[in-house]
Amino acid sequence: MVSIERLKVGIKEFDSIIAGGIPRGFFVAVTGEPGTGKTVFSLHFAWQGVLEGDRVIYVTTEESRESIIRQAQMFKMDFAKAVNDGKMIIIDALMRSKGDEWSIEELEVETLVEKVIEAKRKLGYGRARLVIDSMSAFWLDKPAMARKYSYMVKRLLYRWDFTTLLVSQYAITTSEAFGFGVEHVADGIIRFRKSVKGGVLRRYLLVEKMRQTPHDTRMYEIDIVDGTGMIIKGPAGITKEDIALPEKVKEEIKKAKKKSEEETP
Ligand SMILES: Nc1ncnc2c1ncn2[C@@H]1O[C@H](COP(=O)(O)OP(=O)(O)O)[C@@H](O)[C@H]1O
Ligand SMILES: [Mg+2]
Repeated sequence: MVSIERLKVGIKEFDSIIAGGIPRGFFVAVTGEPGTGKTVFSLHFAWQGVLEGDRVIYVTTEESRESIIRQAQMFKMDFAKAVNDGKMIIIDALMRSKGDEWSIEELEVETLVEKVIEAKRKLGYGRARLVIDSMSAFWLDKPAMARKYSYMVKRLLYRWDFTTLLVSQYAITTSEAFGFGVEHVADGIIRFRKSVKGGVLRRYLLVEKMRQTPHDTRMYEIDIVDGTGMIIKGPAGITKEDIALPEKVKEEIKKAKKKSEEETP
């Protein structure tokens, strides 16, 4: 038996889907459309780190630090206290307020990486968890750079003992190309989806890839519950094709993906 150190995400039933957790040092892509649960999932991962005494860094590009703290609070995760206790640093890349030690003023990958390393130094030596929520913000105006930037982040942060979630989102209107860059460098891919069935929004997750892991290959229905956070309801009992995108959208995505690959330096 090969023994691998795994970091629990902290969502009941999810860790068993990936044989106990994410292998230490991995870069895992968390992708999906808006509102599918990527941030909530990432909050669990970060909070579990606090509970286990890991150094935790959470980079937020789409919500303010306050919004992240409030959202976590709804699931009984006290991020404000963790920050005060020096266990966690939330890097705010949205508000970019001058004078705030932990915000970055420009959405550049180099600036981000420098800030993350500074935060790691501050938190101290030892096992660490990093969430970048999301990477998409860094290539909003240049999607063709997605792959290069993701690779840069991985290469530059390799030696810092992080286990990392790289969140990326694809909007159907802007094509799935936004997610592809991250997926190319990822040791694991966790994909979130949504569909409306019987007039009700349903959410799903599927572990599409997890190196060195005999992971479950079924799609699971999930839910987000006030006071608790993400829960796994059970195998969805439907195939990936059941909630596939319309042909026309798929065609658009294919085109954009091809274009993005051609343009990647
Ligand atoms: N306190 C709560 N109780 C129940 N559901 C919530 C609560 N807070 C957020 N949600 C659900 O979580 C969704 C946001 O999920 P999020 O992880 O932020 O999505 P994204 O994939 O865009 O990051 C909301 O649209 C809502 O459905
Ligand atoms: Mg989000």
